[in-house]
Amino acid sequence: RIPTKIYSNSSLASIAVAKEISELIRERQQDGKHVVLGLATGSTPIKVYKELIRLHKEEGLSFSNVYSFNLDEYYPMQPDSLQSYVRFMEEQLFNHIDIPKSNYFIPSGTLPQDEIAAFCVEYEQKIENLGGIDFQLLGIGGNGHIGFNEPGSLQNSRTRLITLDQVTRAAAAGEFQGIQNVPRKAVTVGVSTIMKAKRIVLMGWGEGKSKIVATAVEGPITDQVPASYLQLHSNTTYVIDESCSSELT
Ligand code: F6R
Repeated sequence: RIPTKIYSNSSLASIAVAKEISELIRERQQDGKHVVLGLATGSTPIKVYKELIRLHKEEGLSFSNVYSFNLDEYYPMQPDSLQSYVRFMEEQLFNHIDIPKSNYFIPSGTLPQDEIAAFCVEYEQKIENLGGIDFQLLGIGGNGHIGFNEPGSLQNSRTRLITLDQVTRAAAAGEFQGIQNVPRKAVTVGVSTIMKAKRIVLMGWGEGKSKIVATAVEGPITDQVPASYLQLHSNTTYVIDESCSSELT
């Protein structure tokens, strides 16, 4: 069974996750080495990013040795659009820390469709050239997706253009002023890309995620619940708050 760590609330949980990330960064700094982070967007990681910013501003944590690769981006999507994940990451984290602009990568939402496959190969190559992802942060979709690996995504899937699930588009409808404005596609890193990370932390907050978290942790490993693949990863922890733990046996 995947280890779960339950905190009384998401603020305390987020501080603990940020602490683990900051310790990894500092450890590598002492050895003169870099760190590769895999980062997520959405509501779940916001408090982790807030705490990382605080650690930078108040406790001298530097991100100068950090590379980061985001999980996904809508397609098509302009980087300066309100809903873009480039904009999200810059506003929630990158603009407030000292990570070099050339060190963070987010899947492209702007390339012509016939150039996406080559872009995805290059994205994975960049990760590998840097030694792979040391720490992957994940949220979980109500349908069990990780990144935008929707139900049906295979364990050996690579970074690619996918068609978004109706559940995912409905969840994003608010931000896009209606489901009709939510893009039908996205570029996401693959399940296999995620599974290669040396350490994975999946976070879940609130009652709303309690059922899918229990299914992913305790249910069968199936492509219908991509987060269940994490049962096969040897260094994954589900970090959840109390209300998100209510369906676990
Ligand atoms: C975001 C991502 C998604 C979200 C998931 C949960 O980069 O990859 O898998 O983590 O949809 O979203 P929130 O956190 O908004 O509930």
